[in-house]
Amino acid sequence: MSRLAAVLALSALPAALAIQLPNGIGKLPALGWNSWNAYGCNIDESKLLQAANAMVSMGFKDAGYEYVISDDCWSNLDGRDNYTHQLVANATKFPQGITGTSGKIHDLGFKFGIYSSAGTKTCGGYPASLGYEEVDAATFASWGVDYLKYDNCFPSEVWYDDCLSCEADPSFSPTGIVNGSCTPSTPPVNHYSFDKPIPICPPYKWPVDGNNYTAKYTALKFRIMQQALQAQNRTILYSLCEWGVDEPWTWGNTTGSSWRMSNDINPSWSRILQILNQNSFLTNYNNFWGHNDADMLEVGNGNLTAAETRTHFGLWALMKTPLLMGTDVTKLSAHDVGVLQNKRLLAFNQDAVVGGSAAPYKWGVNEDWTFNSTFPAQYWSGASSNGTMVAMFNPLNETMKMTALYSEIPELESDGCYAVTEAWNGTDLGCKEKSVEVEVEAHDTAVLLFEGKC
Ligand SMILES: *[C@@H]1O[C@H](CO)[C@@H](O)[C@H](O)[C@H]1NC(C)=O
Ligand SMILES: *[C@@H]1O[C@H](CO)[C@@H](O)[C@H](O)[C@H]1NC(C)=O
Ligand SMILES: *[C@@H]1O[C@H](CO)[C@@H](O)[C@H](O)[C@H]1NC(C)=O
Ligand SMILES: *[C@@H]1O[C@H](CO)[C@@H](O)[C@H](O)[C@H]1NC(C)=O
Ligand SMILES: *[C@@H]1O[C@H](CO)[C@@H](O)[C@H](O)[C@H]1NC(C)=O
Ligand SMILES: *[C@@H]1O[C@H](CO)[C@@H](O)[C@H](O)[C@H]1NC(C)=O
Ligand SMILES: *[C@@H]1O[C@H](CO)[C@@H](O)[C@H](O)[C@H]1NC(C)=O
Ligand SMILES: *[C@@H]1O[C@H](CO)[C@@H](O)[C@H](O)[C@H]1NC(C)=O
Ligand SMILES: *[C@@H]1O[C@H](CO)[C@@H](O)[C@H](O)[C@H]1NC(C)=O
Ligand SMILES: *[C@@H]1O[C@H](CO)[C@@H](O)[C@H](O)[C@H]1NC(C)=O
Ligand SMILES: *[C@@H]1O[C@H](CO)[C@@H](O)[C@H](O)[C@H]1NC(C)=O
Repeated sequence: MSRLAAVLALSALPAALAIQLPNGIGKLPALGWNSWNAYGCNIDESKLLQAANAMVSMGFKDAGYEYVISDDCWSNLDGRDNYTHQLVANATKFPQGITGTSGKIHDLGFKFGIYSSAGTKTCGGYPASLGYEEVDAATFASWGVDYLKYDNCFPSEVWYDDCLSCEADPSFSPTGIVNGSCTPSTPPVNHYSFDKPIPICPPYKWPVDGNNYTAKYTALKFRIMQQALQAQNRTILYSLCEWGVDEPWTWGNTTGSSWRMSNDINPSWSRILQILNQNSFLTNYNNFWGHNDADMLEVGNGNLTAAETRTHFGLWALMKTPLLMGTDVTKLSAHDVGVLQNKRLLAFNQDAVVGGSAAPYKWGVNEDWTFNSTFPAQYWSGASSNGTMVAMFNPLNETMKMTALYSEIPELESDGCYAVTEAWNGTDLGCKEKSVEVEVEAHDTAVLLFEGKC
């Protein structure tokens, strides 16, 4: 069997073989820190260690934050080792190589993550893993890597899913890249849009007609790296980053532990709302071992207000997205540290008994199921092992009264009486019957925990 045939045969296995790594790794959304939102390409070992040390001294480690991840730009720009074909860490940025850095991160009690791309180059233009999956997976394992963020920049032309026509040679070149002639659509079609409802159904022509994203090259590229990682004698959590273009929520669960479902976040209120709106339609795809990734946190960055920060973190936690900080931890305000370490929200995100995420039960200003990137769903609820969590989000520019009406909340009994705790401050609101009304300031989200009945 050719390698392509082998990969395609494997890809046809039933969904029952979802990725379940040993020791519960990847069962719950990852918690940690990633360099990108804080530093972009300008990284080095000292910045990673500064973050890790601050995470210890400021209580993040005790709160459950586990991974410290180097994003793009850690390697030499000019290429692989000519003899071993391995990626080479930039010696200025990582003087003792990645092994040196991962050792120090491990010594602080964290797991260590790294980045590559399913392309000829990473998004930053560094050497990437397409065609080198086996050597890279083995290299990462030998360096003590515990987590791989795998991006999708610079796919080689023959791997385009949006070829207008394509003739593939099923044999592999020495680099593992399929030879073939593709007539790509030029410019490549950007299937991604914040302004279109999901599912986005691009007019793919090849390799199959229709919208079976599991059968397409993008999913295949990500599966090739998954198999390379799985072949290593080291458990490496696999985080897919193809920006939601190819409906990764339909194949991500059989490929990795999480999948980005949208284009990149940035520290702006409008982008947070766009991603929130998009992910609000995908909550059914979340459960143990497989998570929608609404992208890394911007808490501490840009001009987000305290209220906006609570909405961002609170709804990311309730959507059970991985929670990866992306800021200079040492500069976080006391308010933002409190938000990021909120034990009720972290417990919901990390619930070992209930896997599903919260979901909207009512949109609010707009009709239910309205896809609107400035007015996402406002009323959310979700079960947890300690009770029902309800979040009410105010998109308006002024304070509004919002009511959690039990008859509308699927997890609550209409005439029930519940002990209610305000989740941000832990304020005990006492026993409440039928409904709870709260004032929610502009752009803020009230979060209430409904525990035992009264
Ligand atoms: C989609 O493609 C995959 C992989 O080729 C195949 O296993 C699956 O049956 C296809 N699904 C549908 C609905 O055709
Ligand atoms: C390594 O990083 C330094 C600092 O950013 C840079 O000046 C140098 O060009 C890089 N070397 C390689 C081989 O990419
Ligand atoms: C690999 O070989 C090429 C061509 O000889 C050379 O330009 C390049 O600098 C070498 N790269 C490394 C990392 O040694
Ligand atoms: C694929 O194309 C490359 C570059 O043209 C060539 O070197 C290689 O031999 C081809 N591989 C196969 C299997 O045809
Ligand atoms: C796999 O790793 C474990 C733990 O590091 C080690 O004890 C074992 O010998 C390794 N097995 C192989 C086949 O390398
Ligand atoms: C993903 O796979 C895991 C493990 O098989 C399963 O527990 C989970 O329910 C799946 N997620 C979804 C949304 O089907
Ligand atoms: C924050 O606000 C300042 C002043 O209005 C503006 O110059 C800056 O670009 C904003 N930063 C971000 C990240 O939006
Ligand atoms: C439930 O409450 C216990 C005790 O306070 C706490 O340790 C645990 O994290 C909570 N779990 C959830 C999912 O809220
Ligand atoms: C989004 O919803 C708001 C509130 O109903 C409305 O004013 C706005 O026009 C909607 N946007 C779009 C693009 O439909
Ligand atoms: C809130 O104010 C901003 C800035 O003035 C404006 O762009 C936005 O449309 C307003 N939103 C609502 C819901 O009124
Ligand atoms: C909880 O704390 C936030 C931020 O400190 C504050 O704005 C809010 O008024 C408090 N809410 C309640 C219900 O106490």
